[in-house]
Order: sequence, then C-alpha cells, then structure tokens
Amino acid sequence: MSETPYQRILLTGGTGNLGSSLRPHLTSLCEKLRVADRVDPGPARAGEEVRTVSLEDREGMLALLEGVDAVVHFGGVMKEDWELLLTGNVIGLQHLYEAARIHGVRRVVQASSNHATGFYPAGQVISPSDPPRPDCLYGATKVWGEALARLYYDRYGIESACLRIGSAFPEPRGRRMLPTWLSYGDLARLVRSCLLAPKVGYSVIYGVSDNRDVWWDNSVAANLGYQPEDSSEPFRAAIEAAHPPLAADDPDALYQGGRFVAVMDDSRSDRDCN
Ligand SMILES: NC(=O)c1ccc[n+]([C@@H]2O[C@H](COP(=O)([O-])OP(=O)(O)OC[C@H]3O[C@@H](n4cnc5c(N)ncnc54)[C@H](O)[C@@H]3O)[C@@H](O)[C@H]2O)c1
Repeated sequence: MSETPYQRILLTGGTGNLGSSLRPHLTSLCEKLRVADRVDPGPARAGEEVRTVSLEDREGMLALLEGVDAVVHFGGVMKEDWELLLTGNVIGLQHLYEAARIHGVRRVVQASSNHATGFYPAGQVISPSDPPRPDCLYGATKVWGEALARLYYDRYGIESACLRIGSAFPEPRGRRMLPTWLSYGDLARLVRSCLLAPKVGYSVIYGVSDNRDVWWDNSVAANLGYQPEDSSEPFRAAIEAAHPPLAADDPDALYQGGRFVAVMDDSRSDRDCN
C-alpha cells in the first residue's frame, strides 16, 4: 500500500486520551482525517476536519461515516455504568458498523480491551483463539464489539482489527501493569500496522508493548507487521519500590483483569476500567 492508502480515515474518541495520542499519527495515512467525539475535538489541524457527534445518535453516525473508507474507533465508555455502556458501547457500535456498511467502509480498527479476557488467571499465556472471559460489563461490551466485527466481516466483507488493549498510559502504574502496559508509541505503531497491512480480515490482537512477562500470544499482530519498541522493564525498579508485593489473594495477583473482576455497576462511581 502507498503511504496515503485511504481517502478519509475517521477517528472516533478523538478528544480522549488514546484518540488524542493517535491523532497526529493518522494524517499521513489519508487525504483527510475526520476527528470526531461527543466532546468538541477543538479546531481542525492541517489535514483534518472535525465533527461533534454521539455514538448513540444514529442519524448523526450515518452522516459521520459518509465519505469514509477506514475507521479508527477509540470512542466509548470505560466506566462500569450499564446505561452509559449500553448507549455508547453496545448501541453506538452497532450504529458505527451499520453506517460503515451503508457507506462502503473497507476497514475498521477498533479499541477492544484486555477485559474481554480478564477472568483468565494472571500468568497464563492465552491467545485470541481462546474463548472470551470478560471480567465486568465493560469487558462484555468489548466482546460484543468483537462479535459485531465478525458479523460485518462474514456478511459484508468489512475488515476489522480488534485491539485488546492492555494498559495504555504514558507510564505503567502499579505491578499489574508491568505485563499489560502499552506505550502510546507502540499503540500508534500497532494502529498503523493494522491500517497498512494488505489484509486484516477479522483479527483479534492484543495491544501490548514488548514487556518482559508475556500473558498474550500476539503472533497475529506480528504477522500484520507490528513491532513494539517499548517495554515496561525500565519502570520496574521504581514500581516495585513504590508498590509492595501483591498479596496472594489480591485480584491483581490472581486475574489478568485484576481488580475489575470485582468492580460493580455503580452509576455514581467515577471509576474507570483500565
Ligand atoms: N486506556 C487504556 O488503557 C485502555 C485499555 C483498554 C481499552 N481501552 C479502550 O480504548 C478506547 C479509548 O480509551 P481512552 O483511554 O482514550 O478513554 P477516554 O475516556 O479518554 O476516551 C474515550 C472518548 O470517547 C468519547 N465517548 C464516550 N462516550 C461516547 C459516546 N457515547 N459518543 C461519542 N463519544 C463518546 C469520550 O468523550 C472520550 O473522548 C476505549 O474504547 C477504551 O475502552 C483503553
């Protein structure tokens, strides 16, 4: 593929943490980057156009996808709040795929999550072909997103790469994130690989840096050309000094999803699922 293989890429969640970090990396891959969020993404930068729309607004989503040939979907809800998850992650994602079908989108790269498989034991190496084991409602909505991707590929041929992102932050926070950390640089490399690969079909991929401890067989990502350049290892000494060893019965020690195996739906909660 050429360096600008797409006419127009839509980035959803363009105001969010990960969408903001991806924004400058996508303009070189398309003639025009359409940056969208329900929160105003601010002024358009060079090579961009901006839109403010909510995923649950079906007509708005239909208009948003017009003229788009690839989607990088990073909009959505990470709180364990069923009403928000239902509108943003369940209904909203169906709007996205249906609008993609109507407008002939070729490829979707969507943010799934490690919480789609968070009930697997910490330390066990699993692969995308193992069955989902979501650890919370949020994780279950990510399984829904992967199922929609499968449906729209099998029925309509729209390719999707579903990225089960580990913990994407500027630096790992705490011991559980040593094996799950994904640097912003590696996230950009991963999304770029998924957009540039000649074919992704329906792919489920773990979004993780080149960390010392491995929980996820990520050969699918390697086959698509993803080569992580960062590792949590340089942060290990500081994290181990700041955080005492985990108790044997701590969910962070027992489960890949850590404490989110026990997080409850509580609309008053401001807790995010990372
Ligand atoms: N940050 C991580 O470590 C991590 C880990 C696993 C998965 N993910 C996934 O990556 C994606 C982005 O994560 P983030 O850390 O940038 O989160 P974030 O909360 O910073 O960004 C999400 C964005 O989505 C927008 N949004 C929420 N509901 C919406 C709706 N109904 N309609 C339109 N826009 C809506 C928000 O305004 C926000 O800008 C999410 O799908 C999340 O589940 C992130």
